[in-house]
Amino acid sequence: MEVSQRAKGILPSATLAITNKAKVLKSQGLDIIGFGAGEPDFDTPDNIKEAACTALKEGFTKYTATEGIIALRKAVADKLKSRNGLDYTIDEILISSGAKHSLFNAFMCLLNPGDEVLLPLPYWVSYEEQIRLCGAKVVAVNPETNLKITGDTIRRQKTSKTKLLVLNSPSNPTGVVYSKKELKDIGEAVLETGLGIISDEIYEDFTYDGIKAESIVGVIPKLKEHTIIINGVSKTYSMTGWRIGYAAGPQNIIKAMGNLQAHSTSNPTSFAQKAAVEALTGPQESVSLMCQAFCKRRDYIVKALNSISGIRCPNPSGAFYVFPDVSDLYGKTTPKGTLVNSSQSFASALLEEELVAVVPGEAFGTDQYVRLSYACDMATIKKGMERIEHFVKNLS
Ligand SMILES: Cc1ncc(COP(=O)(O)O)c(C=O)c1O
Repeated sequence: MEVSQRAKGILPSATLAITNKAKVLKSQGLDIIGFGAGEPDFDTPDNIKEAACTALKEGFTKYTATEGIIALRKAVADKLKSRNGLDYTIDEILISSGAKHSLFNAFMCLLNPGDEVLLPLPYWVSYEEQIRLCGAKVVAVNPETNLKITGDTIRRQKTSKTKLLVLNSPSNPTGVVYSKKELKDIGEAVLETGLGIISDEIYEDFTYDGIKAESIVGVIPKLKEHTIIINGVSKTYSMTGWRIGYAAGPQNIIKAMGNLQAHSTSNPTSFAQKAAVEALTGPQESVSLMCQAFCKRRDYIVKALNSISGIRCPNPSGAFYVFPDVSDLYGKTTPKGTLVNSSQSFASALLEEELVAVVPGEAFGTDQYVRLSYACDMATIKKGMERIEHFVKNLS
């Protein structure tokens, strides 16, 4: 048997690849510092776990409605109203097995082969693969300044084949957060050009320095007809393993996504849905505690990286990643004789020679950078920064 052409085209996830390699080295007893993880290091709050246990004890272990239980779709609608000021009915909401699944459903139901999708660089790895799986073409778009696109970027890049723009604020991997003004500028260009938007808002609750992440639909309500909002409980409530994400958008698209889901995965896990209801409607203190911890770590890591000669690290306003530019170090050689001339060689040498795992920027379409997740404790961050400093000092 041979795998299909479609499957042959899928590249492995570079972020998972580095995390897996680090895990293998760790299992061999090596003292690895992992900055690769895309998930909070905190435990899922107890009230959420208890809700799942109660659901299990009560026998809530069977199929549910494909589109998710009404209580969860209602909790999502209430959250969209209270947090984002948006009006969605439960028919405009689909619960899926993680936000990644919501994204996949959305691309599959919106893209025809040959359609183009504007993907601002640097972008999260899975967008590209999912879009390509639909037979559509990724048009990687360079940011203007501060790693952000503008309305004019869209006007310049739009062709007759452009169907969608993917917006991810706060961003993985850069941590940039678009302001209301910037979203308005982008939204106006979208309305002018007739594009659709996939707005991935999964990191909305992790922002710093008093900045609030806005949904583009909240900034220009007319965009509701043109936008699929993607979100979930994975990051905000440290529930990455529970696999609950959701999409909110025009009813006809949500319905099509539900039909696709009905024939692929069916409903997301029953008791995980009950836990997600508790996450969205229960106490929210854990979210602000996590956010405060991330902020302290961000402050430390940005300062530490910028104190290393040859590394320039922008100060991100959201998510839990830093995305330093390491390209000034390209052309140098490690003590073991490895030439560092790309983000891949930088990341490999750093892992092999200093046992520090970072994700090469190449995976996000930009080779000057590497991504570090600060979803790990302070002691780990400090140790990792010392090792990176040592690594850079010894380059010649
Ligand atoms: C930008 C972005 N969107 C979506 C996801 C997927 O979230 P989930 O774990 O809910 O599938 C991730 C996870 O890393 C992400 O970084």
